Amino acid sequence: MLIAQITDAHVGPEGELFYDRLDTGAALVRAVAALNALTPRPDIVLFTGDLADRGTPAEYDYIRRLLAPLEMPLAVIPGNHDRREAMRAAFAEILPDAGFLHQVIEEFPLRLIGLDTLDEAEFSLGLICAERRDWLDRQLSAAPDRPTVVFMHHPPFLTGIGHMDPINCAGGAALEAVIARHPQVIRVLCGHVHRPVVVGWGGTIASIAPAVAHQLPLDLRPDAPSAFVLEPPAFDLHLWIEGQGLTSHRQLIGEFGPAISYDTGQPL
Ligand SMILES: [Fe+2]
Repeated sequence: MLIAQITDAHVGPEGELFYDRLDTGAALVRAVAALNALTPRPDIVLFTGDLADRGTPAEYDYIRRLLAPLEMPLAVIPGNHDRREAMRAAFAEILPDAGFLHQVIEEFPLRLIGLDTLDEAEFSLGLICAERRDWLDRQLSAAPDRPTVVFMHHPPFLTGIGHMDPINCAGGAALEAVIARHPQVIRVLCGHVHRPVVVGWGGTIASIAPAVAHQLPLDLRPDAPSAFVLEPPAFDLHLWIEGQGLTSHRQLIGEFGPAISYDTGQPL
C-alpha cells in the first residue's frame, strides 16, 4: 500500500495571491500533477488540512476544480484555516454528514483514521477534547490487530519552532496517552507547521509533512517571529512494506532537471 500525504495548500479566492506573493491555487495544481505522475500510483491521497485559506464556499468550489484532475482517491481533514460546514458541503461524498469531520477508512491493508482537530472558537490553535479523544479510543479499541495510521492537522506535540508550538493541538498529552494504549498505531501524520518534522511520540512515530504551498523558516528560537518562506513545496509518500512497517519518503515539487544515469552519464 502506498499513501501520499499533501498538506497546507491555503488556497484563497481565485485570482488572488497569498500575501501578494504566491499563487497557492497554481501550487495545488502542481502538486496534483506531481501525484498523478507517480508510478506506482498511491492508493490514496491524505490531505491533512488547511485546504483553504479562509474556508469560504467559494474557496472550496475552486479547490474542488483544482483537485478534479487527481486520479486517485482522496481523504481530507480540516485545518485551522478550514471551516467545518463549508468543507463538509464541498466534500459531501467523503465526509460525514454531521458532527466532527472524523473518518475511518477500512478498505486498505492499513486502517486510516482521520481526526478533526478544528476549534472554530480559535483562529489557529487546534483541540482534541474529551469527546474526540474518546471517539478515537473507541475506534482503536474496535480493531486492535489492524495496523493503523492516524492523520490530523494540528501536531499534538512540540516542534521547537517558537511561534508554532503555542498553536499546536490542545489536549495533546491526553491524546498521547490514548495512542500509547494502542500499539497498532504505526504512525501519526500531521500538517500545520509547513515544515518536515519527525518525533517519537505516544509509543509510535509522528511526523509533519511540508506544505504544498509556502513553508515556514527553520527558526528554533523561542521568540521566532511568525513568517513564511518560499522554499520548495513537497509531499510525503508512505510505503507499507509487509513484515517491516511504514517507510516514508519526501518528494520536492518543482523542476530540478532530469535524472542522470549512473551507467551512461546521460539523462534517463
Ligand atoms: Fe497551514
